[in-house]
Amino acid sequence: MGDWARVWALLSQLRGLWDEIAWLVTGAAIVLGLAFQAGRFWERLAQRRERTEVKELAEAEVKQLNDALTAFRRSDGKIWRGQQGAFPEYRDWLQRVSIPIIAVANLKGGVSKTTTALNLAAMYAKSGKATLLIDLDWQGSASEVFGRKLELEATSDVDFLFAPSATGVELLARRTSAARLARGLRDFDVVRAYKSLLEVENRVMIDWLAGRLPFDAHYLLARSVLDPIVTSKYQVIILDTPPRLTTALVNALCASTTVLIPTTMDELSIEAAVTFQKTCRDYRHEFNPRLEVGGVVGALSVGIQAEELAVEAYRKQVQKADPPLPDLWMEARIPRRADFSNVAGKDIAYLRSQNIRRIFIRLADELEKRRMSE
Ligand SMILES: Nc1ncnc2c1ncn2[C@@H]1O[C@H](COP(=O)(O)OP(=O)(O)OP(=O)(O)O)[C@@H](O)[C@H]1O
Ligand SMILES: [Mg+2]
Repeated sequence: MGDWARVWALLSQLRGLWDEIAWLVTGAAIVLGLAFQAGRFWERLAQRRERTEVKELAEAEVKQLNDALTAFRRSDGKIWRGQQGAFPEYRDWLQRVSIPIIAVANLKGGVSKTTTALNLAAMYAKSGKATLLIDLDWQGSASEVFGRKLELEATSDVDFLFAPSATGVELLARRTSAARLARGLRDFDVVRAYKSLLEVENRVMIDWLAGRLPFDAHYLLARSVLDPIVTSKYQVIILDTPPRLTTALVNALCASTTVLIPTTMDELSIEAAVTFQKTCRDYRHEFNPRLEVGGVVGALSVGIQAEELAVEAYRKQVQKADPPLPDLWMEARIPRRADFSNVAGKDIAYLRSQNIRRIFIRLADELEKRRMSE
């Protein structure tokens, strides 16, 4: 057979197979098409499942927050009432505390809380006591004296103490030495606060209301402040607090042994001080059995007559309270002095002025006597 004849025979065979090849190619195309469609179908199904999961998660989150809001509404706005319980060591650590942990507090603003906290801390430090000052006000007025961090360095040192995992080790890592302020201040440390604390406080409140904290949000700070590695290192701890019942303030009331309430001497301020004295008593019953009001101290006084009227108003109101409150008005006073305002935000008057020294030595003596007589 010639070459042409062989080619012709091959072509004839292929023509016989042509139909099968066409069927095979069409079949393969259909299978591929179906596989592609099936792939897209599965992909869409997975996407839909993912969307449903995200939606369910979001719905669960919204439900939690709604429950939290309902609980808040039912609590008649008293958001800080109702207890989940402290961390396991709380009662034991509280019993073991032998140093004064003094919260300088009053829900009224501008009554000399920060001035009192700073000068009292300076007094203890200057007298040779290992002293720790913790700023719990996001406005950071007390921290300013020790050098403000740049705004961009957003996280304030005290923020870390509101993490449920924070202990005394965290606190010791976050303090700054204040010894450079004056000679003879050896053991004077401060934990500073800035604006970022406000965000932390809000987050803690939401986490708590949504049931995401391992223990009651009142006790977050106590877990580091009352930790024996802190209370054995310092001889006195002072907390400067904000003029609002914030996360930081309720935490201060659960992490201290003594509350010092400065007040200005007008009638409305006296009323606010008495109300706050009552709040402290409630906190003692509900949360912190070691909490004592060390005293109510008149500040920014302008004259003997105004002072006498203020004391009279105070005494009337504590007797009128139901049940009556103890009379804790202090003999010591914090008079209005330019020495304070001249150095505000830059320095501590106690370290510069003899007159101011006398005021705080007297105040600390009276506090100590009351503490001993408890
Ligand atoms: N005894 C005083 N004599 C003169 N000025 C004072 C005295 N006490 C406080 N001041 C000034 O009054 C202002 C308010 O005082 P301070 O910041 O101590 O009050 P505060 O209660 O901490 O305020 P806030 O509620 O805003 O935290 C400051 O400018 C401070 O320098
Ligand atoms: Mg203040």
